[in-house]
Amino acid sequence: MSIIEKALRKNRVAGAAGKSDPGAGSSRGASPWAPEIPPDPAPEIPPDPDPDLPAEIQELRPEVLQRHGLILPGEERSGLAEQFRLIKRPLLANAFGAPQLRVRNGNLIMVTSSLPGEGKTFSTINLALSIAMELGRTVLLVDADVAHPQIPKYLELDGDHGGLTDLLTDPGVSMRDVLIRTNIDNLAILPAGKPYRRSTELLASERMSELLDEMARRYSDRVILFDSPPLLAASEPTVLATHMGQVVLVVEAERTPKGALERSLDLVAGCEVVMTILNKAVWLPGMDYANYHYGYGGYGRAAEAPAATARNE
Ligand SMILES: Nc1ncnc2c1ncn2[C@@H]1O[C@H](COP(=O)(O)OP(=O)(O)OP(=O)(O)O)[C@@H](O)[C@H]1O
Ligand SMILES: [Mg+2]
Repeated sequence: MSIIEKALRKNRVAGAAGKSDPGAGSSRGASPWAPEIPPDPAPEIPPDPDPDLPAEIQELRPEVLQRHGLILPGEERSGLAEQFRLIKRPLLANAFGAPQLRVRNGNLIMVTSSLPGEGKTFSTINLALSIAMELGRTVLLVDADVAHPQIPKYLELDGDHGGLTDLLTDPGVSMRDVLIRTNIDNLAILPAGKPYRRSTELLASERMSELLDEMARRYSDRVILFDSPPLLAASEPTVLATHMGQVVLVVEAERTPKGALERSLDLVAGCEVVMTILNKAVWLPGMDYANYHYGYGGYGRAAEAPAATARNE
């Protein structure tokens, strides 16, 4: 800004305050030829920094995402991204849609399955990436598989500064101490935390239910996704499910036994919304997508939960 413009602006401000500066002339008496002064731009109000986020940002590297076959930034039109778009749509509608359709604590979503290795972690991470990258809605990805934590390792992030178990056992630990802030603006990760004797039992503790209530209240506008242990391996994930607004049950194509799926559906029947997704279904010959894909199974309020068969669409 030139010196003249500065003087004129100063004059205008003084004039507006009713204290015209005789040396510079008042704005009321300003020459009609005086240059038009653009109005001050609206002051930029920086977005409220999230007090729970640490200053350090950890990078989710595309080559790591690619190595695990996860959704990549900038490739939102890929087949995998399209599958997760179908999966997330009803989940988000239940959490943030029309008030009469919303589910209580619908923003708390647990991804689980009957048995180990069916694709819970893969699905949870993809769902988190899909929601954070595409919709700009803030996602907190929680590694609640405390006995076999995988998320930071999977994503090659440093998750050694504590996490969920520390929040649950040490009153001196705050969210900010343990959250991982990522280079995807809307995605933060809560690691599982330090190994703890009988850590899975913590998931069913009173402190866990207090923490979940607090999270649901404090982060009511965010999606909180929980990667969990398999339902049939221990009783705690079933207790955890009772606190969730929604449960996503991963079914592995050609592998999850029908009896195991039926048992799992029974275990989460108390949850208002249970969605099943079919993972690792093989595409039919002639289709151009890779070997694996997701099928979007049924979902609905538990009372109307689909039969214990996930269909592949
Ligand atoms: N749809 C998929 N396409 C390609 N790879 C997949 C898919 N689903 C899972 N995988 C891979 O299969 C392996 C097991 O998946 P994942 O770790 O997500 O299972 P999990 O249910 O979380 O296992 P655990 O019960 O041990 O925690 C991983 O190497 C994962 O990358
Ligand atoms: Mg896992």
